[in-house]
Amino acid sequence: MNGLILVGGVSLLALLGALLYWQLVVTEGVYLGRRVVVWLYDLYASRYDDVKQFDERDEAWFLGEPLNKALLGVPAPLVLDVATGTARLPQALFQQPTFSGRVVALDLSRQMLRQAASKMALYRDRLTLLWQDATRLPFPDAVFDAVTCLEALEFLPDAKVTLTEMVRVLRPGGLLLTSSRTGPGARWMPGRAVSREAFVALLESLSLSDVLVSTWQVDYDIAWARKPGRSTGPTPPTLPALLRCPRFTGGPLIRQDRAFFCDTCDSHYPITDDGVVEMGW
Ligand SMILES: C[S@@+](CC[C@H](N)C(=O)[O-])C[C@H]1O[C@@H](n2cnc3c(N)ncnc32)[C@H](O)[C@@H]1O
Repeated sequence: MNGLILVGGVSLLALLGALLYWQLVVTEGVYLGRRVVVWLYDLYASRYDDVKQFDERDEAWFLGEPLNKALLGVPAPLVLDVATGTARLPQALFQQPTFSGRVVALDLSRQMLRQAASKMALYRDRLTLLWQDATRLPFPDAVFDAVTCLEALEFLPDAKVTLTEMVRVLRPGGLLLTSSRTGPGARWMPGRAVSREAFVALLESLSLSDVLVSTWQVDYDIAWARKPGRSTGPTPPTLPALLRCPRFTGGPLIRQDRAFFCDTCDSHYPITDDGVVEMGW
């Protein structure tokens, strides 16, 4: 009898351990809500680059070079990187000698942004880091020449909502670059990882054209697409002209020394010493 209880107890513990491992490690907290996801990224931020070990040549080949090439006809292109993490995409782009544009990079993990800010200090005049949720992008419609979001859609509360936002802020004719989870790990993320066909269909359902999805890494497909139409009007020249209040009103923000201020709802968004604009939760 005691033996049976012991076996039952051990099995239960093993099951609990496996469940926790699946929830916190394999799926990075995604079924437990965005606070858990972001908390895990905050914990992991200082080790992220060491664990990922991105290869500089691969980053240039798959990201920096093709994106820069696609933007060559655009004077001083403006790029938005959603869920930027430790600034992988901005880094790949700024390493392209002919890239003459600016990047706005957004993430909800403050610690990931801290790493990004310290790595990218050299580019501070061309890179703006925003601590903000990807679900609601604090920008007016049709302002970015390219919008990117890599290795992140499956961790966001609703990939379609964020993709819709990404398309909204993209200029007509602008480029969308994103990724879709594949490979052996994908089967452990039901409802989060989708088949290539379903991903293409999702992008096409957002009225994107020239959708091209191909194999990228063991765990990801890469996807390129365009927003139909042709861009008109100049790129907004300064950050205040770009930013909108993420709370209720969505009104324009006013720059005040070391903060942005919304005179409709009185919200203040500080600019911290490492240059991050803190919009937060
Ligand atoms: C696997 S990392 C990818 C980072 C970077 N794009 C890259 O390719 O290295 C996923 C990122 O998504 C961010 N993230 C998760 N949920 C988010 C949310 N709701 N809003 C903004 N960023 C979020 C995490 O903080 C993390 O930095």
